[in-house]
Amino acid sequence: MKSEYSPASLPSARTIAADAAGIAEAAAIIHGGGIVAFPTETVYGLAADATSEAAVARIYAAKARPTFNPLIAHVASLDAALEQGLFSAEAQHLAKAFWPGPLTLVVPLAPGATVCPAARAGLQSIALRVPVHKVALGLIVAAGRPLAAPSANRSGRVSPVTAAHVAVDLSDAIDLILDGGRCPMGLESTVIACLEGPPRLLRPGAMTRVDIEAVLGQALAGPAGPIALHSPGMLASHYAPRAKLRLEAKTLESSEAGLDFGGIFGKRKNVLDLSASRDLAEAAANLFDFLHELDALGLNRIAVAPIPSEGLGEAINDRLARAAAPRGSS
Ligand code: TXA
Ligand code: MG
Repeated sequence: MKSEYSPASLPSARTIAADAAGIAEAAAIIHGGGIVAFPTETVYGLAADATSEAAVARIYAAKARPTFNPLIAHVASLDAALEQGLFSAEAQHLAKAFWPGPLTLVVPLAPGATVCPAARAGLQSIALRVPVHKVALGLIVAAGRPLAAPSANRSGRVSPVTAAHVAVDLSDAIDLILDGGRCPMGLESTVIACLEGPPRLLRPGAMTRVDIEAVLGQALAGPAGPIALHSPGMLASHYAPRAKLRLEAKTLESSEAGLDFGGIFGKRKNVLDLSASRDLAEAAANLFDFLHELDALGLNRIAVAPIPSEGLGEAINDRLARAAAPRGSS
């Protein structure tokens, strides 16, 4: 029987350089309701006009993302964010300290906000972020409107940090890929909710808890109740490579690929070291790239060396725990 689905016959997205001409072309596609992958300082995002229900629907379809999982609206400045969300004194304080940069703030929706309900999954709150990456900011300014942008991977897969990662995962489902090189931080933004009560950490990420708590002058609250209710993207099985992960591995078995930290596995075949010098920023920047690379070896299991939990280690260990979680739970 002839299959209706024939990947070879599907159109593939072009990859173009993220220079001024590339950004202008991407902005034109977004104006026309299209979806474009673009680099940020954290991971590659998949952008659509956040004010258009139809454009946002294409993001959910391309990623096969559950429509109850809201998207981050990316804007160019705090002023632009204030048109979409209601900022408490604490939220403003955080925005002034960390924007532009890898921090996402979830705040109550402002009356008159233009970000459409589909982008917010119908919630009365909105996630806002001002990225610092020049291409990301350039694209937002050229588009002249908020951009809804989740990470540019199929739902549940490892986030992309290169244009090639995006192409492998999503090429047949999107309109264009802007290639701006590897993302410098390599981990998604930290998500903080400033709703009722004290600011809550919904997702550890590229901005560390210590830095945020130092600015707030108080400890961040954790999520009240199950995290999935607060940040639906935080379902357990996420960031999953095809291979199984064995965490906290002190030694490597011969059948395994190895994700090392600080050289404990020794110089072996199929091993990549996140940071030989035990530098957590270097490890964060390498994490998704190395997971993609080791997964492509086609081995059944990846052993992961222990990684300290302070600083960026909190977010690194969070992503590893999700990547190791049993499949099919989300
Ligand atoms: O670094 C990043 O944040 C990247 C780049 C592209 O900016 N984006 C990203 O988007 O990681 P995404 O969709 O993969 O993750 C967004 C997270 C999800 O966990 C989602 O549930 C949460 O933010 N989120 C969005 N809106 C929310 C809201 N109103 N309330 C609670 N959580 C929200
Ligand atoms: Mg994601």
